[in-house]
Formats: sequence, C-alpha cells, structure tokens
Amino acid sequence: MAMPTRDEAMALLREWNSNDSLIKHALAVEATMRAMARTRGEDPEFWGIVGLVHDLDYERFPEKHPHEGARILRERGWPEEVVHAVLSHAWGLVSDVEPVHAMEKVLYAIDELTGLVTAAVLVRPSKSLADLSVSSLKKKWKDKGFAAGANRDVIAKGGELLGVSLDDLMTEVIAGMREAATALGLDGSLCKGGCGGEAGA
Ligand SMILES: [Fe+2]
Ligand SMILES: [Fe+2]
Repeated sequence: MAMPTRDEAMALLREWNSNDSLIKHALAVEATMRAMARTRGEDPEFWGIVGLVHDLDYERFPEKHPHEGARILRERGWPEEVVHAVLSHAWGLVSDVEPVHAMEKVLYAIDELTGLVTAAVLVRPSKSLADLSVSSLKKKWKDKGFAAGANRDVIAKGGELLGVSLDDLMTEVIAGMREAATALGLDGSLCKGGCGGEAGA
C-alpha cells in the first residue's frame, strides 16, 4: 500500500480516539514534524502523517502502547517505515526499536516536548503560543514538578540523538506548534472575553 493521505490518517486517528486532548496532542506533534521536515529538506506530508498516528492506540490500549498501534497499522497495510517510526518513539521505555532515521529521531525528541509546551501555554495569562518564549519554557523545564509527565530525560536524549541543543529544539517546537495554534486551542481563544493579560483583568 502506498502512503495513506492525511485525510486517511485523520480518519484512522478518529476511529480509535475520542479524547480531545489526545487528538490535540497528535495535531501538535504533526505540526511540529511538518515544520521540522521543511527546515531539513524532508517530506512534510510524510513526517506529519507519522506524527498524527504515533499514539493511535494510546486511548484504547495504554498498557500495550505503541505495540497495538503497530499491529493496527500493519493490519491496515500501512508502510513498514511508519510502523518502525511508531515503535521507535517509545524506545527505551516500552520498546527496544531504536530511532534510526532523522524523522524517527525528531519524533522521539519532540513528542514529550509538545506536552511541556502545551502545559506552559495553558498557565500563561494569554493562553497563547504567540508570546511563549524559549526562556520562559526553560523555566518550566527546570521546574521538575511542572507537567511532571513530560519526560525531560527522553527530551534531552532526543536532542542528543539529533545533535540539536535544548534551546534550538524548544525554538523549533514552539515555531512548529504555532502553525497549528488555532486547531490546538492555543491561540488565545480560550481567553475570549475573559483572561488577564495586559489589562490585568
Ligand atoms: Fe506515545
Ligand atoms: Fe505522543
């Protein structure tokens, strides 16, 4: 089977997921993968679709993640390179498949970081990605109790695999997620008629 389209990937994602925050996580990873493929001269569509389906099974089979996802993708005839990437994003945790390709290393490095970025935006008065800086994200990174689920060791290891500094990785993830800010609900729309900001409300 040829590489499925984005629409097919979205349909598969929705077939297995109804949790809004999991779907938003998939969209955040997709947007970041697309942006990072572009800056590396790679295929944004391919990288983005891998981002969309990487946690396909997490809602229904959290204990067997990502192995059920790999099984589903294989059953549906998805290319083995997508299956390999899905398995490799859990390397060292619940999978022994190592990220080898650039796309896999990027997925491994940014997956948890998108979660930290989302949490960092949601505690901002603006509720917007637009004014999240790397230095402010760095402060959240150092506060181990903040978004403790975002595994700093995995992110740091991913940056090493990629040969990218943490600052640069953060810059790229923020930029990538900004491209999907509206779909992610991180464009300040949560504050319509409400939150603080400069007026100090
Ligand atoms: Fe995952
Ligand atoms: Fe993920």
